[in-house]
Amino acid sequence: MGQENSKDGKPGKPGKGGKGAKGGAKGNDAKPDKTPEKPDTPVAATSGGGGAAAAAAGGGDDDDDIVIGKDDTVFSKSKKKVTQADFDLLKVIGKGSFGKVMLVRKKDDGAVYAMKVLRKDAIIKRRQVAHTQAERDILTQLKHPFIVNLNFAFQTRDKLFMILDFVNGGELFFHLKNEGRFSENRVKLYVAEIAAAMEHCHSIGVVYRDIKPENILLDKEGHIVITDFGLCKQIDDGGTKTFCGTPEYLAPEVLKGQTHSMPVDWWSLGTLAFEMLTGLPPYYSQNINEMYEKILYDPLTFPAFLSEECKSFLEGLLTRDPEKRLGSNGDGEEVRNHPWLRDFDFKRLLAKEYKPEFVPTVSSATSTENVDQAFLDEEAADSHVPDSALTGADEFDGFTFVDSRMNQ
Ligand SMILES: Nc1ncnc2c1ncn2[C@@H]1O[C@H](COP(=O)(O)OP(=O)(O)OP(=O)(O)O)[C@@H](O)[C@H]1O
Ligand SMILES: [Mg+2]
Repeated sequence: MGQENSKDGKPGKPGKGGKGAKGGAKGNDAKPDKTPEKPDTPVAATSGGGGAAAAAAGGGDDDDDIVIGKDDTVFSKSKKKVTQADFDLLKVIGKGSFGKVMLVRKKDDGAVYAMKVLRKDAIIKRRQVAHTQAERDILTQLKHPFIVNLNFAFQTRDKLFMILDFVNGGELFFHLKNEGRFSENRVKLYVAEIAAAMEHCHSIGVVYRDIKPENILLDKEGHIVITDFGLCKQIDDGGTKTFCGTPEYLAPEVLKGQTHSMPVDWWSLGTLAFEMLTGLPPYYSQNINEMYEKILYDPLTFPAFLSEECKSFLEGLLTRDPEKRLGSNGDGEEVRNHPWLRDFDFKRLLAKEYKPEFVPTVSSATSTENVDQAFLDEEAADSHVPDSALTGADEFDGFTFVDSRMNQ
């Protein structure tokens, strides 16, 4: 599933080619067409071992240890439950593997949010119930300057809804597609902010597993906001063997089917940093098996324009042995202390005191100039799910949530 679509989905992203190639690779046509089997769909597959073959399977999952909680519905102080009817649907602003993300306005106070809607039948069919519950559970725990805030979660018989802050500066993907690549200075701040967010996740035992330009947004000042916790996992002891992630960003130990943990995020961050700096990930092929071979065996080469410190940083994150990888010995602190990032003061970084080089054009709280037009062209409507598709929908008992800050 993932394998075939990976070949087809990024036809214009050749092994090299910079700006033009990037545009072709992730152009307007490619992304909004994402189907449930889309190439960069983070699908949990059989537990490793088979490399590309495992990626293609797309079904099994070792996450059965995550138990779906009992109903822990939280009400606001006014005891008023939040439902779908409380929101006006304004526009489609994104599409994921299981549903849409829409810009919505809360009817009572006019506040604007991003509403992620997931179809229960699709989640059950693709055995992603545990991942979805983990997304909701972990997002309710995470409060961090560079991680999206979840305000409410609720459900209907056929769908799950997550009401997130609307982050309106656009995906890194959107900007990278438009600009080809970013300056070293600009990438440095992005990487430092993403590293701080990963450090926080890891500190509570959560591995994120899906760093990629589509999942990383900019706020209106140009700071990082990480969204999409659909693949994250709590791994308090040991690691996990689930083969999941997005092909280009998969760490070698995942491809080899080995037990893996936090260092996979440092590898993916290295891949993303390389892509932002040069326009393409370090190991890329339209043929997914070839790409996996490259990730496992190709030498890492750099364009001449990167500084020595930057190359050393990328080499550190893109170290194939997870035990020797930058970040494996001291996690985020070790990453932050690399000479390329060392100038950032961590407290000032978290306080967003470093001014981003690029500030997105954002004309108002509801403006969508940083969203791909192809999404905006879609109708912002609640689609109908046929009754026959709903078997097992009561598996989502513990999903509903209201952020306590909503009561203040
Ligand atoms: N809070 C937000 N504000 C603005 N846009 C958002 C927000 N959350 C998500 N999006 C947009 O919607 C897209 C899809 O959301 P998300 O990645 O969470 O869905 P998904 O189904 O988990 O994705 P995937 O295809 O990776 O499985 C994102 O790539 C992003 O462009
Ligand atoms: Mg996503």
